[in-house]
Amino acid sequence: MMLHIPGVLTRDQVADMRRRLDQSQWVDGRATVGEQGAKVKQNRQLPETAPLALELGQIILAALADNPLFFAAALPLRTIPPLFNRYAGGEHYGAHVDGSMRRIPGSGEWVRTDVSSTLFLSDPDEYDGGELIVTDQYGEHEVKLPAGDLILYPSTSIHRVEPVTRGARVCSFFWTQSMVRDDLRRGMLLELDQNIQSLRARVGDSPEMVGLTGHYHNLLRQWSEV
Ligand code: NI
Repeated sequence: MMLHIPGVLTRDQVADMRRRLDQSQWVDGRATVGEQGAKVKQNRQLPETAPLALELGQIILAALADNPLFFAAALPLRTIPPLFNRYAGGEHYGAHVDGSMRRIPGSGEWVRTDVSSTLFLSDPDEYDGGELIVTDQYGEHEVKLPAGDLILYPSTSIHRVEPVTRGARVCSFFWTQSMVRDDLRRGMLLELDQNIQSLRARVGDSPEMVGLTGHYHNLLRQWSEV
C-alpha cells in the first residue's frame, strides 16, 4: 500500500529544519548503501551520526508518534533514526530496492525494513524533476509532495528518484519495522480501521461497532509479531 500522509510537520517546523539543513555539511550519499545501490545512487546526505541529523530526526519521530494515520498505516514496532538527503544539479537515484535489514547506528539493534517513508522538506515549486517513482503490481506511481507531507510505501518495491534539473530537493527518509510484516495485511487493517472510524463518526457507538472494533483487534492479534 502507498499512502500520502499530509502535514506530518508544521510549516514552521519545516522552515526551521530547512534553515539548519541548508547551512550544513552534506556528504556523498553512497555512504549508506550496498554495492548495487552505490552504482545508481548520486546524491548528498547528512552523515548518519551527525548531531543535526539526530536532533532533527528526534523531532520527526515525535511528530510520527503523534500522527494516528502513520500509526494505523505502518503499525510501527521500530523506526530507524531518520536520515536526510539532498538532490541538486542533475543528481538522481536509479532503480533500486532498499536493503532488508538495517542496524540502528550505535545500538547494534536490527530493524527489518517493512515500510519506507519519504518526508518532503522542499515544496514542489522549489525544484524541477526529483519525482519519487515507486513501482508495484499496478505500475509506476509518481510522487512529489508539499513540504511537511510524507509518502509511505512498502520497502519491498523497486523505486527511483528522477534527476533534479533545477533547485534542490531536500527530504528525510527512514524505514520502519512493522508489527505486521505483510503489506497486504497492513493494507487490510488500515482499510478496516478507517472504515470503522468513519462509520463511528457518522452513526456513533453501537453493539455492531464494538463487534467490528473487536474484529480489528483480533486480526491484529493474529497477525502481529512483537
Ligand atoms: Ni531507496
